[in-house]
Amino acid sequence: MLKTSDLLLLLCLVGASSALYKQWIPDTNYENKTNWDKGDVPCGSDTVQFPAQRKVSVFVETSHAVREMRLPVDGEFILNSGAGFYVVSGQDPGCGPGVPAKFKDSESLEWFDPALWQAAATLDDLQKGQVLFSVHEESVPCQHDDVVFKELSSFRVHTTSTSQASIPVKSVSVLGKKFVSNSEFSQYLGSRSGRLQFHGSSPVTVGNSGCGDPTGCDCGNSANHKQICRAVKCGSLSCKTPLSPVGHCCDVCGAIITVKFSTTFNLQNYRQRIHHLFLINPEYKSIQLGMSKVFKSQKLIGIIPFGTTPEIQVVVLDGDKGTLAESLAWDIVQDARTQGATIGITGAEFQASSGGSSQSGSNAGVVVGAVFGVLILISLVVVLVVLVRRGFVHLPQMPSMPSMPSMPSMPSMPSMPSMPSLSRFKRNSDIGELGGAIDHGYDNPMFDRPHLMPEIPGLYGNGANSPISMTQTGVHFVNPAYDENETDFNA
Ligand SMILES: *[C@@H]1O[C@H](CO)[C@@H](O)[C@H](O)[C@H]1NC(C)=O
Repeated sequence: MLKTSDLLLLLCLVGASSALYKQWIPDTNYENKTNWDKGDVPCGSDTVQFPAQRKVSVFVETSHAVREMRLPVDGEFILNSGAGFYVVSGQDPGCGPGVPAKFKDSESLEWFDPALWQAAATLDDLQKGQVLFSVHEESVPCQHDDVVFKELSSFRVHTTSTSQASIPVKSVSVLGKKFVSNSEFSQYLGSRSGRLQFHGSSPVTVGNSGCGDPTGCDCGNSANHKQICRAVKCGSLSCKTPLSPVGHCCDVCGAIITVKFSTTFNLQNYRQRIHHLFLINPEYKSIQLGMSKVFKSQKLIGIIPFGTTPEIQVVVLDGDKGTLAESLAWDIVQDARTQGATIGITGAEFQASSGGSSQSGSNAGVVVGAVFGVLILISLVVVLVVLVRRGFVHLPQMPSMPSMPSMPSMPSMPSMPSMPSLSRFKRNSDIGELGGAIDHGYDNPMFDRPHLMPEIPGLYGNGANSPISMTQTGVHFVNPAYDENETDFNA
């Protein structure tokens, strides 16, 4: 018989990884137009200028004609085979008179800027451009992810974390070389190219384990939430009730589906399932869907936090009012509820920014119950008022009122007859309580607080027919241990 821990270990060993590939988008390539201030790669009549004080590593894929080139103090060209520079004498035909062409500064590009990364399930998907949407925290590489810098490409990234001494990931690929051992990668970081490509006070470390849990892993970026969100600008929203996905910097219009899962759940397979069942449908072309394991903090009575539970958060955005997202969320929840047992899903709910939700269970029940309760109460009051008006019921004027007229002819209102006698019932029970205390012996004066007793003369039965005698001071029995007049007691 396998214990749960053994089973988990087994699943770790055989389970497919659910971590992602995260690719850095910007580059410092010579051929990339966006790296030049004039928006075009310089041609043979242009004067090429690199920022003098900046460090830069520039990948050059082919050969280029230039008139003149001003190089930075510290920098390098990474030349692809066959790449290089040559000077044309005279004017380059088709280039015009020539202008100064400045290479843009890439000094400030931050590792923790979620806009600068794209995610995919496999390297193949990354190459085909089949990228995944993620919440901001998970757009940046997670601790179990493989980080990829484009193969024929150079870059410069600032790696400074305000919360960590280093930035752990599973692996880093630079210029087609994949680093999985940290000693090898830190050696690379110390090399000339490494120092030009990575700068900042928190070095990236590789060799972190992959995600061994098929149900998904914690990204590990919640500590960097502030830093990640600093670069994000949130747009204005047009939906009724914007939602706040866990790990996202902005409120969104759309829907959030919460999936509860068992140990047989596989995040990667579920991602594919949703893709094949729904997202390839042309109607959902504008949909962005992100799926990850998040840890929701649990709160006792909605206030006191007492830990976290893992659940799968599916964020669905449609870039509009969220109505398309809501209909997709419905489909996904229906699928989870009908097919959940076979794919390890134990429950699914959604919340939509258009106001809709799938909460058919407890919450709705409470609301319905409350509404019915109020309705019943109102009708009871109405019936009572009608009965009083018609003279069927006389309300008591004083607590000590003599017995009410009995009402034998009211079969439809069984609770009515007891109401007028309520005061009498109460008096009886009060006396019973006092009697009970006396039956157990004597009152402890320590707890006897006569001044707290209500001053209703009739209530405690001062009359001669009462079995208990009470005064305003309330001392009817005394504890002999505390009584000075012991003789009275013994007498
Ligand atoms: C050029 O750089 C931009 C921004 O850095 C990037 O989005 C784009 O993919 C790059 N172009 C190519 C062809 O790699």
